[in-house]
Amino acid sequence: MIIREFKRPDVERVLEIEIASFSDPYPANILVDIYNLGAGFLVAQENNRVVGYIIFWIKYEDEGHIISIAVDKNYRKQDVGSKLVETSLEAFKKFDVKVIKLEVRVGNKGARKFYSKMGFKEEKTVADYYEDHEDAAIMSKILQ
Ligand SMILES: CC(C)(COP(=O)(O)OP(=O)(O)OC[C@H]1O[C@@H](n2cnc3c(N)ncnc32)[C@H](O)[C@@H]1OP(=O)(O)O)[C@@H](O)C(=O)NCCC(=O)NCCS
Repeated sequence: MIIREFKRPDVERVLEIEIASFSDPYPANILVDIYNLGAGFLVAQENNRVVGYIIFWIKYEDEGHIISIAVDKNYRKQDVGSKLVETSLEAFKKFDVKVIKLEVRVGNKGARKFYSKMGFKEEKTVADYYEDHEDAAIMSKILQ
């Protein structure tokens, strides 16, 4: 498996994974807009097929943010997500980012466990964060 930069033709596969993974997926045009705005956008590729992706950006000078990550259901629990996060952390370090933050649905226990395993700590809960009124857990990781 390789981790590489997103390219425009990847958008169809990314969208497929996004739709299969989230109840409120980003539409294709938003994914491309985010990319065009200069966000970090990496994909995991296995046998010429995109099997996962991560989108991240620098929110403030020393604070990074993971916007979205998802892995094709057939490739989960095989370290793809971990490799995507680790590669984004390397990119953040190059820009002297000190802390990474993200929001995750409180009900998304799998993702919360995944992020904990990756060294993120739960900071607080924000009530009514999502459009469907679910609360968000704010998680953060200090970069060494
Ligand atoms: C969260 C997600 C990206 C994890 O990707 P992944 O490739 O399966 O993760 P990894 O294989 O690297 O997992 C690393 C560790 O995280 C933990 N973990 C991952 N998924 C988990 C789950 N569903 N439940 C509990 N623990 C989990 C495990 O400890 C795992 O290590 P192990 O396999 O040795 O037990 C993937 O489940 C996914 O795409 N989910 C849907 C989209 C989503 O919820 N994204 C996050 C939104 S904020």
